[in-house]
Amino acid sequence: MQIGQKIIRLDTVNSTNNYTANLVKEGKIVHGTVILADEQTAGRGQRGAIWLSNAGENMLFSVFLSPDNLSVKNQVALTHFTSLCLVEILRKIGISASIKWPNDIYVSDKKIAGILIENTISGDRIANSIIGIGLNVNQMNFENVSATSIQSEKSEFVSIESLLFMLLFEMNLLWEHLEKGDLELLRSKYLEKMYLLNQQATFEDQEGVFVGKITGISEAGLLKIEKEIGVKMYDLKEIKFISQNAF
Ligand code: BTN
Repeated sequence: MQIGQKIIRLDTVNSTNNYTANLVKEGKIVHGTVILADEQTAGRGQRGAIWLSNAGENMLFSVFLSPDNLSVKNQVALTHFTSLCLVEILRKIGISASIKWPNDIYVSDKKIAGILIENTISGDRIANSIIGIGLNVNQMNFENVSATSIQSEKSEFVSIESLLFMLLFEMNLLWEHLEKGDLELLRSKYLEKMYLLNQQATFEDQEGVFVGKITGISEAGLLKIEKEIGVKMYDLKEIKFISQNAF
């Protein structure tokens, strides 16, 4: 089935990822199903954070995907796939978005979209994945000042439905690469769109604050940063981005 061939539309839900997970538990969902909501009462972000969004103003959805043959060691391909789809559609509508590793979508130094991927593993394979996407579309005011939306960037109202269809089109294109095992292509496209790639910035690791340069990602998706002493690889919890301009 094509991604988005079946769309379940909800007015309000606690979290589209939770709703999808329940359908999975009940065995009532097929690959490619999209669960879209106007409002979430307990929207979830990465690392236990909450995802806030004004009702009806943004795109809030989860898509259920069952890869035919994706091994656990290649699960980062799902992050590459999703981030790329979002950046592609934003660029198509004239917004110069980029990917802040590992899967935040930024427009200069403001976040425009977030991704929450929850995988179910069976043996050494990814049995299925719930990919939750929150894309800021028409919301104009954010409690968190470092957030933006499509309308804030373009000064015009944008239809959530038309964006969803653009995104589903992109997902269907890139999903073919993932299913064919063309993971290197996804990885290189992801790298091309990475925020701050090869630019000096300020970071913090367990040794303290330092100026370094993101030089790429490892095969497993770790972030490579060039420090004075050489290139170091970091997992999400091991590195904090401090500021774009090195002091
Ligand atoms: C993040 O950047 O912290 C991830 C945010 C993910 C938010 C989306 S909104 C739709 C889906 N349902 C959720 O509860 N979370 C994701």
